[in-house]
Amino acid sequence: MLGRAWREALDELSIDCDAPARSELDLTDTNAIVRHVTDRYRAVVNCAAWTDVDGAESDQAGANALNGRAVGALAEQCARAGALLVHYSTDYVFNGHTERPYAVDDEVAPINAYGRSKALGERLLREAAPPHLLVRTSWLYAPWGRNFVRTIAGLARERESLDVVDDQTGRPTCCRGLVRSTIGLLRHGAGGTFHVTDGGTCTWFAFAQRIAAQVNPRCRVNPCRTDPSSRPAARPACSVLDLSKTEAIIGACRRWEENLMEVIEQMER
Ligand SMILES: NC(=O)c1ccc[n+]([C@@H]2O[C@H](COP(=O)([O-])OP(=O)(O)OC[C@H]3O[C@@H](n4cnc5c(N)ncnc54)[C@H](OP(=O)(O)O)[C@@H]3O)[C@@H](O)[C@H]2O)c1
Repeated sequence: MLGRAWREALDELSIDCDAPARSELDLTDTNAIVRHVTDRYRAVVNCAAWTDVDGAESDQAGANALNGRAVGALAEQCARAGALLVHYSTDYVFNGHTERPYAVDDEVAPINAYGRSKALGERLLREAAPPHLLVRTSWLYAPWGRNFVRTIAGLARERESLDVVDDQTGRPTCCRGLVRSTIGLLRHGAGGTFHVTDGGTCTWFAFAQRIAAQVNPRCRVNPCRTDPSSRPAARPACSVLDLSKTEAIIGACRRWEENLMEVIEQMER
């Protein structure tokens, strides 16, 4: 999902890029990373990840291999090749127990296997210490791919009502906006760890309500509580990322309601 947004943005900027598919570069193969990432690249943007949050619970080793050790190997190779590494992490590195937004320097304390694998990737990246931009983000959506907006839009078109959890709060993030903000940070020479999301916060229920209102106002969205036994992975209750460090450099992130409207207009069914 994010990889496509990056490719489109670089095409628009006429910046050459090489975007290998998994079949051309399997990131769990360290030798392949060493062969592929050479000094011909000025920067490497890692959009690949194990993103199946529930699936990670039954295969922590698989999630760690891609979200953890592969990131370490990529970071070591970028350090050798002198390439800047842009890498994405997640709000799920935090436990969600606090009601205030998580600052960039807050201690990570993941409550699920996916979060642990992403936290491992963050640690190994910092240890390898290439020039880098580590961007934590949350609740990604785009007009393409598998994401909450497209799922809810599809269901809202078919059903009269939907139940959506109202006890998990976070920040949705439009992939195109995330790429624009990342490029903004790079243009300002920013390095280290940053948070980038859309502006504003909401629960999944409020997010779904807005999506349904756009695609089928006749579909009623009802709030419900999280049933911890319904999914293998625990989700943080409040994983709002603090954007102040980012906004001090690139200005205010556009609110999710505005980005959502644009994405629904562009959505591929
Ligand atoms: N989605 C979210 O809500 C969310 C929230 C917070 C942070 N993030 C982070 O944002 C980044 C982008 O997420 P996304 O949702 O855009 O991901 P995505 O759509 O699930 O795409 C992940 C990509 O990784 C590729 N991949 C899987 N295993 C690979 C391997 N061994 N070698 C090379 N490539 C491999 C997949 O290839 P195939 O197509 O072949 O499977 C796929 O193209 C990730 O770092 C993710 O952790 C996402």
